[in-house]
Amino acid sequence: NEIRVFCPATIANVSCGFDVLGVALDSVGDEMVIRKTTKKGITITKLEGQDLPLETHKNVAGVAGLALLAATDYSGGFEIEIYKNIKAGSGIGSSAASSTGAVWAMNQLLGKPFSNLELVQFSMKGEELASGVQHADNVAPAIFGGFTLVRSYNPLDIIKINTPKELYATVIHPQIEIKTSDSRKILKTTISLADGIKQWGNVGGLIAGLYTEDYDLIGRSLQDYIIEPIRSILIPAFDNVKSASLEAGALGCGISGSGPSIFALSKGKENAKKVANAMQDIYNKVGIPYDIHVSRVN
Ligand code: HSE
Repeated sequence: NEIRVFCPATIANVSCGFDVLGVALDSVGDEMVIRKTTKKGITITKLEGQDLPLETHKNVAGVAGLALLAATDYSGGFEIEIYKNIKAGSGIGSSAASSTGAVWAMNQLLGKPFSNLELVQFSMKGEELASGVQHADNVAPAIFGGFTLVRSYNPLDIIKINTPKELYATVIHPQIEIKTSDSRKILKTTISLADGIKQWGNVGGLIAGLYTEDYDLIGRSLQDYIIEPIRSILIPAFDNVKSASLEAGALGCGISGSGPSIFALSKGKENAKKVANAMQDIYNKVGIPYDIHVSRVN
């Protein structure tokens, strides 16, 4: 009647796939404990690590959980304990970790009445509360694992993509908070055909590279002509961190989700650690405090 879950951090967009591509991190994430109760509804009994609302309707885990409850005839409810390691507003899917952890665990405790796609749909309600938009590019990899593609939002169609064994992510988080809702407001709503051509060439290239485990092709495809030029202005020393990571051997580097975290993908853990050192050197030199993680993507 009780379950403890690991709720992975996720990198959304993965450079070329704004709002459609995402990948889960194997060893960075939160923990949650979910318990069945005879009392109806959802109660958040504990929230450690971050200063976030406990009220069910104001908490992403609560809102996602309520969406799941509304779709069942289960007469009881759930208690939720949340232990956050992921900082809110860091760009590695903090809200997605909480909303997916809640609904994934509830589904297990109810005997798995819902499909992964339905769990994504419930979790998207949490994303809407957090960012104003029901984007699925963090919640889909948190539920399905590995790389995922949101092929379509309406109807929702999610494809789990092959995840190469030796792919590691380095993620550096300069200690500022950027709200996804704010970093979406600065984006343009139209793109040029020329940029579109470059962008979808890279999306196709990245998917092909992931399936064939062609690390060079993955690297060539990790480019973003549309979002990065606008959002990178909000991120301290973005250009320096990116060039340092590429010089240190990263396959590619870009903004994680809506930032300010910067991610790089590398082949093998040793390379990902070298990239971590190169990224840290930049922030150490300019005196910007940061967190840094190296994790297999899976
Ligand atoms: N695709 C979303 C965005 C992800 O970039 O705004 C937010 O984590």
